[in-house]
Amino acid sequence: MTNPSLLILPGDGIGPEVMAEVRKVIDWYGARRDLAFDVSEDLVGGAAYDAHGTPLHDDTMARAQEADAVLLGAVGGPKYDALDFSVKPERGLLRLRKEMDLFANLRPAQCFDALADFSSLKKDVVAGLDIMIVRELTSGVYFGEPRGIIEEGNERVGINTQRYTESEIDRVARSAFELAMRRDRKLCSMEKANVMESGVLWREVVTEVAREYPDVALSHMYADAGAMQLTRWPKQFDVIVTDNLFGDLLSDLAAMLTGSLGMLPSASLGAPMANGRPKALYEPVHGSAPDITGQGKANPIACILSFAMALRYSFDQGDEATRLEKAVEAVLAKGLRTADLLGEEGVQPVSTTEMGDAVISALDASL
Ligand code: IPM
Ligand code: MG
Repeated sequence: MTNPSLLILPGDGIGPEVMAEVRKVIDWYGARRDLAFDVSEDLVGGAAYDAHGTPLHDDTMARAQEADAVLLGAVGGPKYDALDFSVKPERGLLRLRKEMDLFANLRPAQCFDALADFSSLKKDVVAGLDIMIVRELTSGVYFGEPRGIIEEGNERVGINTQRYTESEIDRVARSAFELAMRRDRKLCSMEKANVMESGVLWREVVTEVAREYPDVALSHMYADAGAMQLTRWPKQFDVIVTDNLFGDLLSDLAAMLTGSLGMLPSASLGAPMANGRPKALYEPVHGSAPDITGQGKANPIACILSFAMALRYSFDQGDEATRLEKAVEAVLAKGLRTADLLGEEGVQPVSTTEMGDAVISALDASL
């Protein structure tokens, strides 16, 4: 049997630094758990633009379509801010999402016990928090037509279109219900049905899908109220399903509840491939962090936990994913902190590589 293939796209900024730590973890699974992957690497974002004049080369796109899973670091940086919209680093990421049809974006927001003090909210509001946001990722206002900046009379008009088909809502709703079934069986759907027709349809379709999941308690919330409830008492939620733009906002909000963006992974999943695995891309929620690039300060945990999600959702290795998550938890419980997690008295930061090495030691200790 051939090994499953992993395409690694480290990208820009701290992407390559955190990905180097993930490579250690991947190697560990090959050496110690007999779980070897065929790993290859390629460029995305600004790095691809510098090499090829495009944020995602067609060859890279083709390799991503073939891979059993794609692991991405981060894209973007100030160097590319002035570039034309069509070649900005972010377009590389958006093209991967769209052409791989990765419609379900899973963004867990989990508060590690050791880090509950880092949240800007009171400890009892966030301690033990474990929610999952399912964001629709390939449609809505991110991709809707018409779009652009046009001339009308003597002024310019900026246009984007929020558009959802029934089937687009149906499939992401199903993913969210399936996840809820494996968790606490609570799903909250968020839209703006009070002002948007796309929200009215969203609510109707989610309600129809719910009939097939009688064991899941479904609720609906307007997205603005959802934002308020997420900051007021986030533990009322289990799984949240929402559209592309609301999901972008709400997942950043949820991420910050946990104290640090440097901790949160994500999975973007599409339809099953011929081998039964879903098309999949895994990436940390944080960005390229140009301000700390190259200084050994970046926290590799979000990227490492993204690989844990790959083990769970692409490779059916839930136990090994849990092993990795527990290793991360153990390292944090010991008091190791990268620079994004400082504030406790007398704690000296560890570097990106030291954090990665500590996770490997904790993995060793788990055997
Ligand atoms: C995210 C990011 C992206 C998005 C950007 C980088 C295009 O904010 O993954 O949440 O808006 O989707
Ligand atoms: Mg975002």
